[in-house]
Amino acid sequence: MTKYVGILTSGGDSPGLNAAIRGVGKAAIGEHGMQIIGFRDGFRGLMENRTMRLDGGELSDILTRGGTILGTSRDKPHRMPVGGKVLDMTDVIVGNYDDNHLDCLVCLGGGGTLKNALRLKEKGLNVITLPKTIDNDVAGTDITFGFDTALGIATDAIDRLHSTAHSHHRIIVVEIMGHRAGWLALGAGMAGGADVILIPEIPYDVESVAEAIRERSRKGKNFSIVAVAEGAVSVEEVAAADKSKGKKKPVAEPVAETEYAVRTVRLAKRLEHLTGLEARITILGHLQRGGIPSAADRLLATRLGTAATALIAKGRYGLMVAAHGDGTRPVKLEEVAGKVKTVPVDHPWIASARHVGTCMGDS
Ligand code: F6P
Repeated sequence: MTKYVGILTSGGDSPGLNAAIRGVGKAAIGEHGMQIIGFRDGFRGLMENRTMRLDGGELSDILTRGGTILGTSRDKPHRMPVGGKVLDMTDVIVGNYDDNHLDCLVCLGGGGTLKNALRLKEKGLNVITLPKTIDNDVAGTDITFGFDTALGIATDAIDRLHSTAHSHHRIIVVEIMGHRAGWLALGAGMAGGADVILIPEIPYDVESVAEAIRERSRKGKNFSIVAVAEGAVSVEEVAAADKSKGKKKPVAEPVAETEYAVRTVRLAKRLEHLTGLEARITILGHLQRGGIPSAADRLLATRLGTAATALIAKGRYGLMVAAHGDGTRPVKLEEVAGKVKTVPVDHPWIASARHVGTCMGDS
């Protein structure tokens, strides 16, 4: 019996999405004679039944393409903007799933997508997810595709920012994506040799950061690179949030990037004032999601995609295909949906950063 597999990409775009689509599709068509139906723009396209048949042709020449040939959105099945209202469109989605005679829906996405996929599973749909995000903050998997490419982009940026920092004896504050977890800022900061790395998991004391920069100046290094994750917060901000009871916790969803930028500018200005060094900021933003996926991400996305198809062939659903060492392992959606993989404060990367003298924003 031919199986019909739906596939969609949801949440922020990420390098490797097309490699993953290719991995699912080529294995499904080539090995199992399945039919692949792409839905455009995430769950919105599934709700509107906007499809794109993915056969051999569409799956060629996409391994190295950035972004997603299907398009994506952050729309959620149960809270979908429709005609100026926000409606629960889950039943429409279930109907389209049935009308397309789908045996399974493969959702490529991060934390939000996992929650949406679990909701659809609970409505009786067969779903499988693949862990995608440059943030690397999906629980239950060693790593997400997109992270390695973004790591390379952010590291290259930090390398380049050293030129102006030491030429002008400046503090360069570089904002790196990651609104819930600091993996990207920590990894790129270490790889790029940042002098200060600020991540959401360690609320920072700006005075400690300023003192680390002043100490560098005293030792003749009158420039510093500060790598700050979007979601990094100061101890004062944490105290203020704790004080005002109802205030939202640090975000689970990305907020307007201007909100992060305001914090980054404020940090740079405070450091300039406290150290007497000029400060400049660079916000890497969506550069970190752009362009050709790295070899590691293409390899990872292909492995995860083909593993997903193997599960579909066995009729195993309700699972995320997690990266596990050199292989993969299926993880129940219930075990990972709604969870965020943050950087443990005792993580070996942090210890290693401290060993080379990196200031992590705490005393
Ligand atoms: O979730 C991945 C991510 O790139 C975050 O690092 C970032 O905060 C967010 O997406 C940006 O979202 P958007 O592309 O919707 O502005």
